Amino acid sequence: MSATIIDGKLISQQIKDELKEKTAHLKEKGVEVTLAVILVGEDPASMVYVRNKKRACEYIGYKSLSYELPASTTQEELLKLIDELNNKDDVDGILVQMPLPGHINEKAVIDAISPSKDVDGFHPMNVGALCIGESGFVSCTPAGVIQLLKRGCEGKIQIAGKECVIVGRSNIVGKPMSLLMLRENATVTVAHSKTENLEEVCKRADILIAAVGKAGMITKNHVKEGAVVIDVGINRNSEGKLCGDVDFAEVKEIAGAITPVPGGVGPMTIAMLMNNCYEAALMHHDMK
Ligand code: GUN
Repeated sequence: MSATIIDGKLISQQIKDELKEKTAHLKEKGVEVTLAVILVGEDPASMVYVRNKKRACEYIGYKSLSYELPASTTQEELLKLIDELNNKDDVDGILVQMPLPGHINEKAVIDAISPSKDVDGFHPMNVGALCIGESGFVSCTPAGVIQLLKRGCEGKIQIAGKECVIVGRSNIVGKPMSLLMLRENATVTVAHSKTENLEEVCKRADILIAAVGKAGMITKNHVKEGAVVIDVGINRNSEGKLCGDVDFAEVKEIAGAITPVPGGVGPMTIAMLMNNCYEAALMHHDMK
């Protein structure tokens, strides 16, 4: 039997529509949600991401401030802009699109964003808060995966007590993903490029989350029958076609549920960014 498809486009639309309604209520109380979006240089993929983020703001009813800076911008200039935005009462969230040009230290930039405006959830203070179970902004992609698990399959996916294997240990997906699944009471394994017997480890999973960045590396040999498979990868195959880390065609015949690429995790990242912006605005207006 073929797996149930978890539709990230549909679920992200639900989340954006919920936010749109809540934002209209906030507006009635005189509160406007504002996101400052900073893009340095002209990386084509980054330009698409930034455009989509600004479009989502428009759809929901947030104000977006756009800072499109030349690739020659110095680190000092960028830090100065961030400092100004940190100090503006009418800015709720600050997003600096990554990657940055090579002469700018990304860590220095992330550290400079006020944790209360860090809607990407990249600041060490927010990562630390997640680690010890305190409230703070959570990295958008792993937060989106949790929503897919909770809202997909008519809410029937059980996380608590289940074996979850995450393949990949990046700071923005794998690591926060493991903490979020732990928070949901899953039994969590983080596998990575040095893991021995990867197929066997993955086969233990009731919930398998692939976040490696290698096209089609998760095959049917990695998947237990009936498992939920979440594909965080966004890769291009040899024909230039967008594809995930999971060999969708063969894994869907074994899995119980699976996310497609595109149309799975991807759209959720922006929806969760929008959710973080809303939460930031509530916090800044003492409404939380
Ligand atoms: N580049 C790729 N993904 C992201 C993201 O989630 N946030 C930012 N700021 N840059 C990115």
